[in-house]
Amino acid sequence: LHIVHIAVEMAPIAKVGGLGDVVTSLSRAVQELNHNVDIIFPKYDCLKHHFVKDLQFNRSYHWEGTEIKVWHGKVEGLSVYFLDPQNGLFQRGCVYGCADDAGRFGFFCHAALEFLLQGGFHPDILHCHDWSSAPVSWLFKDHYTHYGLIKTRVVFTIHNLEFGANAIGKAMTFADKATTVSRTYAKEVAGNAVISPHLYKFHGIINGIDPDIWDPYNDNFLPVPYTSENVVEGKRAAKGELQNRLGLKNADLPLVGIITRLTHQKGIHLIKHAIWRTLERNGQVVLLGSAPDPRIQNDFVNLANQLHSSHGDRARLVLTYDEPLSHLIYAGADFILVPSIFEPCGLTQLIAMRYGAVPVVRKTGGLYDTVFDVDHDKERAQAEVLEPNGFSFDGADAPGVDSALNRAISAWYDGREWFNSLCKTVMEQDWSWNRPALEYLELYHSARK
Ligand code: ADP
Ligand code: GLC
Repeated sequence: LHIVHIAVEMAPIAKVGGLGDVVTSLSRAVQELNHNVDIIFPKYDCLKHHFVKDLQFNRSYHWEGTEIKVWHGKVEGLSVYFLDPQNGLFQRGCVYGCADDAGRFGFFCHAALEFLLQGGFHPDILHCHDWSSAPVSWLFKDHYTHYGLIKTRVVFTIHNLEFGANAIGKAMTFADKATTVSRTYAKEVAGNAVISPHLYKFHGIINGIDPDIWDPYNDNFLPVPYTSENVVEGKRAAKGELQNRLGLKNADLPLVGIITRLTHQKGIHLIKHAIWRTLERNGQVVLLGSAPDPRIQNDFVNLANQLHSSHGDRARLVLTYDEPLSHLIYAGADFILVPSIFEPCGLTQLIAMRYGAVPVVRKTGGLYDTVFDVDHDKERAQAEVLEPNGFSFDGADAPGVDSALNRAISAWYDGREWFNSLCKTVMEQDWSWNRPALEYLELYHSARK
């Protein structure tokens, strides 16, 4: 098949959250199964250009009175066409955050379809994502089905229903197939007015992670490369380095890591509670997070200062986006906490497991589908042919968090051998795209029937 993704985030050149990881890693997985994948992407001025290989001018065309220059390059082995409209729309120093984002990305989607048409492309599948490339779905059906793209089908993936529900609803109507990023989130949103009329073509497919991109044996940001065979040694070295780097006490304590956007979705009050609880239970905490909302950011700056003076040797909040540091935290942490209020899929718990950190999560969306409590979910894990792999809780309140976090920290203190074998178990589980990529292929094929 020939699949073209039209997307506005892509790791590592322009990643804001999990959407960027998924566009790259799903594409790589499908390409590895011998399909032909292209990505059409805005040529932001803030692209991390050093990750783009063999960039060459491809051609130029006009649309709506604007000249659009097209560049072609390779990112992580994927073919990417960069659209560079000469009207400054992507010269803003950021991916999102402008008042005219909907208009900018609408323009991009339309320009992308025009590029395919004028370039004589005949993809089998156009795959668009979230509100930002949702317009592909209806613009395609409005303007392009009768031209050269007659055999093309549109697949639309919802990564987060919270944003841009109107655009998402419209895209749902016109897409040939629609997906979201876990089975449980698909069930959770099934009753939503923009989803419920379309359940017959709506599927939950869990995300994977790219095991080559997230690989503790091949990670420049870690002091000692490790696999499940030397997980204890590898993680000990990473923890030491993390403690030194952040000025924490260099001690053998249970370390809870949190890596997140700081937004309502991620359970801010639960994160705060968990920080204090971990300190009470004689653990260490490292939070790496950034808040798009300045009020939340300020609130955390205050908390960071307070903790610095009261628990400077055991707590550090790093309030920014820092890819290299995130790798060191996944490797150095014993636990990664994800107490989300809702979570369509969640990648941090999957990356955590790849690095031998045990996830502690709230049972919602994709977190429910990927984390199986060592005490409570043995049967559910068995049904998935998996060993239990973490700690989880239901309630979105302090007793909820405590019911999992207390058990996790006690397990660390009371049974180190058992805990070490759990780290090995989670590392050996396969959360790659091996299975989900096949599900997408099946969906792509069924869209063409
Ligand atoms: P979401 O897309 O809702 O933010 P996901 O769990 O799907 O959540 O994906 C988050 C991705 O962003 C992961 O790759 C995670 O490592 C990364 N990430 C989140 N916050 C930060 C941060 N402050 N610094 C570096 N990476 C981060
Ligand atoms: C969204 C969701 C997250 C998901 C990611 C990738 O950002 O919030 O749960 O993992 O998209 O699909």
